[in-house]
Amino acid sequence: MTTLNTDLYPKLIRDFFLFDHSVSDGTAHKPVTLPFAYDLAELLQEAEQLPYDDRPVNRCYVWGPTAQSDPGCDLLTSTDTDYTAQIDLTPYPKIQSFIDSLNAVGPITYLTFKRMKPRGYIMPHIDSECNPYKIYVPLSWPAGSEFKMFGQGNIDFTDLKPNLINTSDVMHSVVNDSDEHRIIFSFYADWSHPGWKHIAWPNSK
Ligand SMILES: [Fe+2]
Repeated sequence: MTTLNTDLYPKLIRDFFLFDHSVSDGTAHKPVTLPFAYDLAELLQEAEQLPYDDRPVNRCYVWGPTAQSDPGCDLLTSTDTDYTAQIDLTPYPKIQSFIDSLNAVGPITYLTFKRMKPRGYIMPHIDSECNPYKIYVPLSWPAGSEFKMFGQGNIDFTDLKPNLINTSDVMHSVVNDSDEHRIIFSFYADWSHPGWKHIAWPNSK
């Protein structure tokens, strides 16, 4: 169970965290291992310098469909096949290298960084118009940060491990009940590509 600061969070979030004592059965989220080495501290150092927007949860859109405005996610209606960097990554060589490593596994279709302010939150919702699956990689996860899924417990981001999460079918809510901002990035991939299929669903044929 997660105890939130009840003076600051909307009732819906307080109740969600208070009354849903579910645990994961592994169907909505699970840790995954990326098949290349990377240094989380170096990525965090660069991620701190990215040009974030001013939305309630600050975002920096880094990779997606070529020659389009930000679609917001890898849309279910997308027919895109060509993806490129959406900002100049020259000042961010570690992030560039990480993206290169991802694309060596198989094509990724959308990648964005998100910075949540202290005591920030995202109301319970589903990402109904988006590719059902994405991988989240936390770069900081202060005590008090929680990513909770309805009926499926909380995501295990201990040791900053990446997780594959079904965000379009399962309602979820995120809080940062701490005094520090926290940074995470997430990406969608072509899950039908053998490289990604093997990482996401290693037991499937
Ligand atoms: Fe979401």
